[in-house]
Amino acid sequence: MALTVGLLGFGTVGQAVARLIVERSDGLLTLSHIFNRDVARKRVAWVPDAVTWTDRIDDVLEADVDVIVEVVGGLDPARTWHERAIDAGRPVVTANKQLIATHGQALLGRAAERGVDLLFEAAVGGGIPVVRGLREGIAGDRLTSVSGILNGTCNYILTRMESAGLAFDVALQEAQAAGFAEADPTDDLEGYDARAKLCILARVGLGLDLAPADVPCESIRTISDDDFVYARRLQATIRQVSRVSAADGQVEARVGPALVPLTSPLARVIGSQNLIVAGGAYGRETTFAGYGAGGFPTAVAVVSDLLAIARRAGGAPAAWPNTTAPSSVTNLQMAPYYLRLVVHDRPGIIASLASIFSAHAINIDAVLQEPGGTKDRLPFVITLEACSTAAMGQALAEIATLPFHVTPPLCLPVLA
Ligand SMILES: NC(=O)c1ccc[n+]([C@@H]2O[C@H](COP(=O)([O-])OP(=O)(O)OC[C@H]3O[C@@H](n4cnc5c(N)ncnc54)[C@H](OP(=O)(O)O)[C@@H]3O)[C@@H](O)[C@H]2O)c1
Repeated sequence: MALTVGLLGFGTVGQAVARLIVERSDGLLTLSHIFNRDVARKRVAWVPDAVTWTDRIDDVLEADVDVIVEVVGGLDPARTWHERAIDAGRPVVTANKQLIATHGQALLGRAAERGVDLLFEAAVGGGIPVVRGLREGIAGDRLTSVSGILNGTCNYILTRMESAGLAFDVALQEAQAAGFAEADPTDDLEGYDARAKLCILARVGLGLDLAPADVPCESIRTISDDDFVYARRLQATIRQVSRVSAADGQVEARVGPALVPLTSPLARVIGSQNLIVAGGAYGRETTFAGYGAGGFPTAVAVVSDLLAIARRAGGAPAAWPNTTAPSSVTNLQMAPYYLRLVVHDRPGIIASLASIFSAHAINIDAVLQEPGGTKDRLPFVITLEACSTAAMGQALAEIATLPFHVTPPLCLPVLA
């Protein structure tokens, strides 16, 4: 017996989900309803005539469908739709990372009480089966960290800056023209999109109930083409890295740009791809990689969740691991740092920087300066040995007040 599917949202992911269901030949899934605002303009000829198109949510939520797919996005009214579907005893499959990151705990609790599935493989890593991989594949381990590249838009921009020497704004425009970045790219560039995904992975992999707002986030907008020149000299590159770890009751989490050595798997993630590394106490590192976004990769994850429900044929859903809310979440505690400055050249700059580092017990590793700078705009880089992030933050605040900057200094942790 085929599982009938009510599809909420007929945008990039919704259309791809519909295609995959319509083109399947195994009879396990049947598309029954498509809901979207102003639905008339959304109609396409390849959807079978038997499918009901509607812009009234009640037409789907009150219909006799077996499972609801929510690919509209956003917190509201998606949350209400999830609650109504769950309360009616219907499983829900979603790609809505913001909703699961923010209200996942409550929604999963509600679904567990009603004995129905709420599955969200598509919310992290597009078509990469990382949620299932953490939940089932390496559930036997005790995971201590999850890190990786979770935002394809940032990765596309940074890898274009790296490979073609593009300025940030040019790489962003190229990403928008190629469909890899939205007209308003704030959520991607500021790290909010990756942070939502990191919170989901923290829940699934580490059993941590993190609130997105508690995870420090740094923008990639501050990265310049100069930084890639210096990164190359340091046998490294720059990536937006998301990381959460838990040890001895201490939870560290951060999303933001970081210098990564060329030998790191993170450095080899190109274009809009994603990579996630789970660190386990017993099995050590397990890597998941692939296309992290786009209609079809994301739809593969949605349809795989639907098939998991279809194959279970009414059996009880597997329980999600218990989660705990950490008492505090801190930024990285210790890291080596990369500090790029662009200054009006004048005597005594290095001396004043050295005295601030010395006052905070931070050791300088190297000072690098590429040829070609001018007296009015002189970029250079200082690398710092591993030090406490708090000390580095204090030193940076003092450095930022010095009178010789042309642009604000950029400080990146160096992460393997
Ligand atoms: N795109 C990806 O690569 C990707 C990857 C992973 C996860 N996701 C997640 O998947 C979800 C959908 O993303 P998407 O890229 O498919 O977005 P999208 O292209 O903007 O599609 C959303 C669809 O929902 C409709 N919609 C929006 N608000 C609505 C409302 N209040 N009532 C009824 N219909 C409404 C939109 O209609 P209009 O046409 O009128 O705007 C649009 O057709 C999001 O949660 C997103 O985070 C997307």
